[in-house]
Amino acid sequence: MKKFLVFASIVLFVAACSSNSSNTSNDTSTTAETPAAPADITQNPDYKAGLTLVAKYDCLTCHKVSEKLTGPAYVDVANKYADNEANVKMLAEKVIKGGSGVWGQVAMIAHPQVSEADAEQMVKYILLLRTN
Ligand code: HEC
Repeated sequence: MKKFLVFASIVLFVAACSSNSSNTSNDTSTTAETPAAPADITQNPDYKAGLTLVAKYDCLTCHKVSEKLTGPAYVDVANKYADNEANVKMLAEKVIKGGSGVWGQVAMIAHPQVSEADAEQMVKYILLLRTN
């Protein structure tokens, strides 16, 4: 019985340590504000990868998660489009080529330096932010 308790406390200790370290890495990767959503989307790999890219490129100079800046809030974009492959491809192409007319007359500049894969990853992150 005593042996079992020692073993159990070692297992608990190890479990506590490893979950701590993964929490720490989450905190550093979450640079933008996150909307309250029922499911914890921040644990989704698409969320983490997309958020990192959005911060790496110039996206956040014109977009915020839940407020309109020069561009629409990402939450509004997510609420407008269903999260499916066709929309991911269409929106990724728009990020690369730029364009206007969907949210107003202000244009989004083209991003020729962004690869298709990166653009799709960022769109997947944006579409996860749906609140409705
Ligand atoms: C110079 C400002 C600016 C920058 C930088 C910018 N955007 Fe935009 N974005 C806009 C504007 C303005 C619109 C609305 C365009 C429209 O009305 O069609 C927009 C629209 C969008 C949309 C929705 C498109 C649609 O057709 O509904 C997505 C998705 C998007 N941006 C993602 C990004 C990503 C990802 C980046 C970074 C690579 C980025 N934006 C950088 C200004 C910007």
